Amino acid sequence: MAKIINEPSHTFNEYLLIPGYSDDRAIPSNVDLSTPLTRFKKGEEPKIKMSIPMISAIMQSVSGPDLAVALAREGGVSFIYGNQSIESEAEMIKTVKQYKAGFVESDSNITPDSTIADLLKLKEKTGHSTVAVTEDGTKNGVLVGIITSRDYRPSKMDLDTKVSEVMTPFSKLIVGHVNDSLKHCNNMIWDNKLNQLPIIDEDNRLRYLVFRKDYENHKLYPNELLDEDKRYIVGAGINTRDYKTRVPALVEAGADALCLDSSEGYSAWQEQALDWIKANYPDIPVGAGNVVSREGFRFLADHGADFIKIGIGGGSICITRETKGIGRGQATSVLEVAAARDEYFAETGIYVPICSDGGIVHDHHITLALAMGADFVMLGRYFARFDESPTNKIMINGTYYKEYWGEGSARARNWQRYDNGEASKLTFEEGVDSYVPYAGPLKENVAMSMYKVKSTMCNCGALSIKELQEKAVLTLVSETSIVEGGAHDVLEKNKTRNFK
Ligand code: IMP
Repeated sequence: MAKIINEPSHTFNEYLLIPGYSDDRAIPSNVDLSTPLTRFKKGEEPKIKMSIPMISAIMQSVSGPDLAVALAREGGVSFIYGNQSIESEAEMIKTVKQYKAGFVESDSNITPDSTIADLLKLKEKTGHSTVAVTEDGTKNGVLVGIITSRDYRPSKMDLDTKVSEVMTPFSKLIVGHVNDSLKHCNNMIWDNKLNQLPIIDEDNRLRYLVFRKDYENHKLYPNELLDEDKRYIVGAGINTRDYKTRVPALVEAGADALCLDSSEGYSAWQEQALDWIKANYPDIPVGAGNVVSREGFRFLADHGADFIKIGIGGGSICITRETKGIGRGQATSVLEVAAARDEYFAETGIYVPICSDGGIVHDHHITLALAMGADFVMLGRYFARFDESPTNKIMINGTYYKEYWGEGSARARNWQRYDNGEASKLTFEEGVDSYVPYAGPLKENVAMSMYKVKSTMCNCGALSIKELQEKAVLTLVSETSIVEGGAHDVLEKNKTRNFK
């Protein structure tokens, strides 16, 4: 007879956190959001640790190279979508790995025949005091010199003086070359007491500038996630069909972690894929999922999964529950799998991080997921709204939107069938094609979301994710208290909060 769980399964929206005592250290700037991505033994460190508890969904409309770089800069990891040819996925991984962190394209350039008056106008426009002098005045022109504000005094000179007369000419410049590593450039800057180092190619064309200040304080990206060679960390989605050819290509391209991408991961297909990858590529971490039960977690943990994703049917574009009748409320799933993770740790001494995947609508859902035991969350809709996601920005009735579609929608499946375990002409959709409101650059949105998470953690007296999980007290709420929780019984003047 079928087993019936009579307790309803719950979603994040049905829970609130009850504040705990906050001592005087409990301020957001003291909160550490770092979290393990991959499994580790008690007393050891994980192979990959993130600075923030966020990874981006393995989706065509979310995780391309631009988003991967932007997220790694903030301390999270993108998983490039696997719903594309092996060659193009490997190419995307290479693009991220070849992205030169710390190398910036010069956006202030001038010709040697320009005057100091021209230079002053340029400086006013760009705000930069270091200007590259190239033969044709373009950013990749042949480098002939560098001029900085130390080279001229507008109040004491003829403004018609040519740039070439006062610049530091190429013959006196110390330059780096395109294949130099960031570390090498850094050393050149220090050894020669430079403020910036121009990087040129074999034809003496300017490719980048590397600035001393970027090393000194990492002000802009204090949380960035880099590998040993100072390249951004990036993950790749894989499937259970072509992994024997896809995995070697992705590892060769430089992927730091892999993740089996399936709406339902408690299966022989994931077992076979995990066994093969662990036997052939023991050094590459591989995540698996999705599961929503203790049994599903244990199965994947026993087969060596380095992290395990939780969630069936809760994604914003997902219609799996409607079409297949499988799934479970996300909060209940996270709570059960977190208990299984802790039980596994107590038994084996191995900690297998878990990820709450899908269904994050408000920033506080991230905090709830973490409080319930998730080590990090995977988000699709959230990231799809940003400049860096790969989809079109479209104006509808005066408002900007970005396109966002599910991997199980007809649009994504134009590339390949969703995995139903067998070759079949019969197919049905498990996701929709949609628009989400455009929200600007990733950096400022992630900063605000993480600040909110930290603020709530302070209310719970927790300065780390682990502490939050130990201290959190959660309460189920009634439908009427959900109404009470929003603005109510007032006419809001500027109702721009429809989507968060
Ligand atoms: P979101 O953050 O709520 O938009 O959910 C994103 C998650 O939905 C992804 O990480 C996947 O786990 C899941 N997902 C992506 N595409 C589909 C689909 O077409 N059907 C069902 N679930 C999907």
